[in-house]
Amino acid sequence: MTEANLNIAPEQVAFFHINGYLALPALTTQEDVGKLRDSYDRIFRERAGRDEGDQFDLAGADEEGKEAALPQILNPAKYAPEMNDSLLLANCTKLVKTLLGPEATCGFAHAIFKPAKIGAETPWHQDAAYWGGEWLHRGISIWVPLQEAKVENGCMWFVPNSHEPREVYPHQSIGNDPRIHGLELKADQLHRTTTGLPCPLPPGGCTVHGGYMMHYTGANKSDIPRRALILMGGLPGIKRDVPQKYPWIEDKQTARENRAKEAAVRKAKAPISVGR
Ligand code: NI
Repeated sequence: MTEANLNIAPEQVAFFHINGYLALPALTTQEDVGKLRDSYDRIFRERAGRDEGDQFDLAGADEEGKEAALPQILNPAKYAPEMNDSLLLANCTKLVKTLLGPEATCGFAHAIFKPAKIGAETPWHQDAAYWGGEWLHRGISIWVPLQEAKVENGCMWFVPNSHEPREVYPHQSIGNDPRIHGLELKADQLHRTTTGLPCPLPPGGCTVHGGYMMHYTGANKSDIPRRALILMGGLPGIKRDVPQKYPWIEDKQTARENRAKEAAVRKAKAPISVGR
């Protein structure tokens, strides 16, 4: 395992807890970014995880033969295990433990690709809207661009202090189309985002946010693809006394979920292998 070399000041830890987010200019080196970008491009080229439901269009109905506006791969390190040897993972693990305590864990969660010119925006949302209402979530997302991220190509935006109270506001599937995986805050909630701020970053920098923080990334209007790797860290959730109902989860009917279900059925039917 690669050794971490990240140092975080107590003021940065305090900033995260007060404002609900943190931006760091260098979570890893440019050399490490180069290696991660090679792995990243390979798994998108190979459409890794498509049949398992791990690869899909976050912003469209995900029909075969149609170019995805926001392709995403879940568990990228499952398809590119060399990512687990990166300085990025070592430093990110140190970052998560510094922010949340020594029991907190960290790993690669997903990769989101915004194609040049046509890459769609990721509308304003809270990650906990995806995670369900039974738990008070203590997960954090670490968003890492593999090239410079700026307003023009889809950098991260946050509404400072929107992490408190730990409430999930009404969401819907993007464009109110339940075939689309991505979620967005309902139009009558968008007044909550008027104080949003962009967080431009160099390659290998990162932003950090918790599950209740409101965030957004813009469309990619530039000539180069915008690649982002997202790591997840955190502590186990705490069961809510009164579970919240999220109708936007119950209403989903995505092609990706059907592929994941079919893959599970195929696996169940596979012959039992003997030995190792
Ligand atoms: Ni998000």
